[in-house]
Amino acid sequence: MITKQTKVFEITDMDNKAKEELREAAKVLRDGGLVAFPTETVYGLGANALNPDAVRAIFLAKGRPSDNPLIVHIAELSTLEVLIPAIPAEAKMLAEKFWPGPLTMVLEKLPQVPDVTTGGLPTVAIRMPDNPIALELIRQCGCPVAAPSANISGRPSSTKGEHVVQDLMGKADIIIKSCDCKVGIESTVLDLTGPVPTILRPGILTPEQLGQTLGKDVVIHPGILDQSTTHAGPNSGTTAGTDTHLIPPKSPGMKYTHYAPKAEMVILRGAREDVEREIERIRTEREQTGSKVGLLLFEEKDFEKAAHDFFAMLRDLDDQNVDLILAGALNEKDSIGLAVMNRMLKASGYKVIDV
Ligand code: TXA
Ligand code: MG
Repeated sequence: MITKQTKVFEITDMDNKAKEELREAAKVLRDGGLVAFPTETVYGLGANALNPDAVRAIFLAKGRPSDNPLIVHIAELSTLEVLIPAIPAEAKMLAEKFWPGPLTMVLEKLPQVPDVTTGGLPTVAIRMPDNPIALELIRQCGCPVAAPSANISGRPSSTKGEHVVQDLMGKADIIIKSCDCKVGIESTVLDLTGPVPTILRPGILTPEQLGQTLGKDVVIHPGILDQSTTHAGPNSGTTAGTDTHLIPPKSPGMKYTHYAPKAEMVILRGAREDVEREIERIRTEREQTGSKVGLLLFEEKDFEKAAHDFFAMLRDLDDQNVDLILAGALNEKDSIGLAVMNRMLKASGYKVIDV
């Protein structure tokens, strides 16, 4: 793998210097290069979505499995014309309400969208990010930008510029460092190609919010709910990349063990007092044998804060070189709680202890 001379641009305000740097970054994208940029959810690693070689370079840089398709980012609705044959009425309603924003819609694709972008699927996932730097970059570039999260595949997603630098220095042509991402977990992925709008990846936008706009039910893919219940004990974790689910994944991303911290991670689930007591017990036991133990416990009701902090806390714990992370489960009856739990389960390799 070729090591690149990565340029790092620090952009917080859209001043003249920033505009100049964005013009340079946009040119790099047009010429087939890789640019990491901030969005409101997590940082993305972008390439021209219509250039198969450029998109292939993303997979190489991240070490990402090639059957896991990318999200194509746009800055204007008119760009949909080069991606999909027609805008379905439901997509139009949702775009009007939630774009720019943390909603990705899976739609039937035009043949010109390369297979490498969509992992060979006949559909394409599209979103308009709610971040002025991302929007200006895409606008300047003049092409749709395919961008997965800007992390090495299998590592926690990057929500801070310094995390992108840690993972992608020497791999991207340009890294745009900006403020921390507002949302902190990736967009809600909604499949609109079937009879019922189906969430393939839960996010900060909930099925209730989407359903209200559509005037009909939006369901969560059963594979996501199934992930919470098909776990076993703490020593029966799954191997990275192994599909452990009973219900076949609709989105290739559902089947990979993502976000893994370097440490072993176990989730404790039950009443808060019981969870805290068990965490203390395991912590004392493990510390006595010389292990360094880290905790991941969120406020019980502030799910948006949990979403905002989750990936950054995983990376912090990695930096502290802990051997074991003990995490408190979030309430999955709350839609954002479910979205964070979905990441937490993957991060732990589905290791859950009911207390
Ligand atoms: O918030 C986000 O969505 C971030 C920022 C950078 O925009 N991007 C992101 O991309 O999370 P990535 O590549 O890490 O996740 C893309 C997800 C995967 O779960 C993938 O399987 C799914 O979207 N996906 C992409 N195209 C799809 C398609 N055609 N059908 C079903 N799922 C698709
Ligand atoms: Mg990702």
